[in-house]
Amino acid sequence: MSLILGIESSCDETAAAVIEDGFTVRSSVIASQIATHAPHGGVVPELAAREHLKALAPVVSSALEQAGVTLKDLDAVAVTQGPGLIPALLTGLNYAKGLAIGNDLPLIGVNHFMAHIYGAFLDGGEKELSAPETYPLLALVVSGGHTSLVLIDACGNARQLGCTIDDAAGEALDKGAKLLGLPYPGGPSVQKAAQEGDPEKYDFPRPLTGAAGKALSPENLYNFSFSGIKTALLYHLEGKDIHAPGFLADTAASYQRAVVDCLVRKTMRAAKDHQVRTIVAAGGVACNAELRRMLAEKLPRNVALKIAKPVFCTDNAAMVGGIAWHSFRRGEFASLDIDSFARLPRFVRVPFI
Ligand code: KG4
Ligand code: ZN
Repeated sequence: MSLILGIESSCDETAAAVIEDGFTVRSSVIASQIATHAPHGGVVPELAAREHLKALAPVVSSALEQAGVTLKDLDAVAVTQGPGLIPALLTGLNYAKGLAIGNDLPLIGVNHFMAHIYGAFLDGGEKELSAPETYPLLALVVSGGHTSLVLIDACGNARQLGCTIDDAAGEALDKGAKLLGLPYPGGPSVQKAAQEGDPEKYDFPRPLTGAAGKALSPENLYNFSFSGIKTALLYHLEGKDIHAPGFLADTAASYQRAVVDCLVRKTMRAAKDHQVRTIVAAGGVACNAELRRMLAEKLPRNVALKIAKPVFCTDNAAMVGGIAWHSFRRGEFASLDIDSFARLPRFVRVPFI
């Protein structure tokens, strides 16, 4: 049996987890910084880094305690290397390096993006992950910082097919919520406000989908754009009484539908074009009930849908410790001079195939 401690600090969650043999979550502790960033309506990188510095030691201690282990029982330390906010990433990376040196443990650098995809297979997904018929796999990774479609083939090559050319989907929901006077983080607030609303009441644009009869250039086939939807919301609200009966609910529902519709259309288009066998949705926005419902509704026949459990959708360290086990098994360790990185490279080899 191997036990890996995962550490995550790429954005506004400080997290640590102990994972047994890649799939069994022995503990997963998350300290959220929502209260710190809420007054700013978004994540402030320097504040995030300072909060991580405070939270890392207690969060790691809790993860070890909840798993019933000590540092001596661990086989490796895994840490998110990127993509993410550099000041935030550096805190976790340096903390993990210190733990590795001090306890003579191997260090494993983890790609946060691929870890999100892996999160859909934690807690029982071992067979599916290793089955050849699962591939090609298309992953929609949607969070506050990312909106990307990644294709993974049966050999473990991951290629980014497209990404947002402006705001991420979560960012569009967070900024939309701010315009609507709803609390941060905006995704859950918009979902809540939309519950009683009519998603077809207002017609928000669907940029880069070809929906308005506009030709779609080949380079944008799988790219996303959300800033236009947000601007449309701004104009929609001008001079309106937000407290008029039904207005807020219908606006939130229509806005959420527009964001989700773009995500689902692009995903289904990419799934068809690349004849994928599995679609995975991960990242914070994959918690969204409307997205989950529409992905299931539009899913092509003979394609499996895997959506990470809500606790493994938003940033967590279980996905970090889990994916790292596959590198551990191969003896693929990081040197102590590894650096953080901000962006997802276009091609990545995933360690789990
Ligand atoms: O993965 P995550 O925790 O952190 C990043 O890496 O960004 O994702 C956070 C994002 C935020 O934009 C938040 O508004 C969104 O996920 N989110 C949701 C929901 N829960 C979180 N968006 C829509 N519906 C939700 N239920
Ligand atoms: Zn994330």
